[in-house]
Amino acid sequence: MFGHEVAGERQRLELLESLLDGPTRDRFRALGLAPGDRVLEAGGGAGSVVRWLAAHGAQVTVTDLDTAFLRELAGPGVRVLRHDMCADDFPPGSFDFVHARYVVLHQPDPDAVVARFARWLAPGGTLLIEEPASFSVVDSPHPAYRTVMRAFRRHLERSLGSHTGWARTLPVPLQRAGLGGVGLDARIQPVRGGDAEARWWHGTLEQARQGMVTAGLAAPEDFEAAYREMAAPDFHDLSLTVLTAWGRRME
Ligand SMILES: C[S@@+](CC[C@H](N)C(=O)[O-])C[C@H]1O[C@@H](n2cnc3c(N)ncnc32)[C@H](O)[C@@H]1O
Repeated sequence: MFGHEVAGERQRLELLESLLDGPTRDRFRALGLAPGDRVLEAGGGAGSVVRWLAAHGAQVTVTDLDTAFLRELAGPGVRVLRHDMCADDFPPGSFDFVHARYVVLHQPDPDAVVARFARWLAPGGTLLIEEPASFSVVDSPHPAYRTVMRAFRRHLERSLGSHTGWARTLPVPLQRAGLGGVGLDARIQPVRGGDAEARWWHGTLEQARQGMVTAGLAAPEDFEAAYREMAAPDFHDLSLTVLTAWGRRME
């Protein structure tokens, strides 16, 4: 599930980028991103944030467990590293910004990852984290969408060990990591019949479907019913809640 070699995974990540990049860019601007800043993009996925940062004059280091979609970005201003945010290190004080999106909740100890990010910041540097919480999808009034979303949440927790409620603890992990000037923003992604969010969910659920059926978490008919609901022109609902937290290394 979600391996970069899976057919359609690059398109799924690019769809996610198209949904999330606008607010990410706005937040970087608001936090004062400047040309020459050393930025770590941790778990860079398909790389759109890297492209944007480099175009704005940042010196970007992008990491991922699988750099297949990122290698083409390597060049002046962009360093691509195969690097595990939980196990591999950087020297303390290496970056003016550290950014991670839709990845920390999937790590075994998300708070420990935040503490690692904080150590990698230079004095005055900023940590920016954007992570989804699933509470806004699991009590949907649409029965098939609700059923599949509840089952998917359980599947993520069981198969990947994801912490599907962790984002809602933000920004406290940043405070505990010693960061100051901490802030929090929350928004709920809307989803409408057949829109990009619905298509992203379709691609995401398709990768999980076999495992969920095998584990007895949902039946094939549940998926078909959810896909019908989510493709209907009059379908309007809420998707994931995106919690965005930031903080600055003071000393
Ligand atoms: C859901 S994708 C999000 C990609 C990108 N951050 C975005 O928002 O568009 C998560 C990415 O993080 C990578 N990843 C997962 N665990 C990681 C780890 N421990 N260290 C580095 N990268 C990781 C995955 O390979 C994947 O590319």
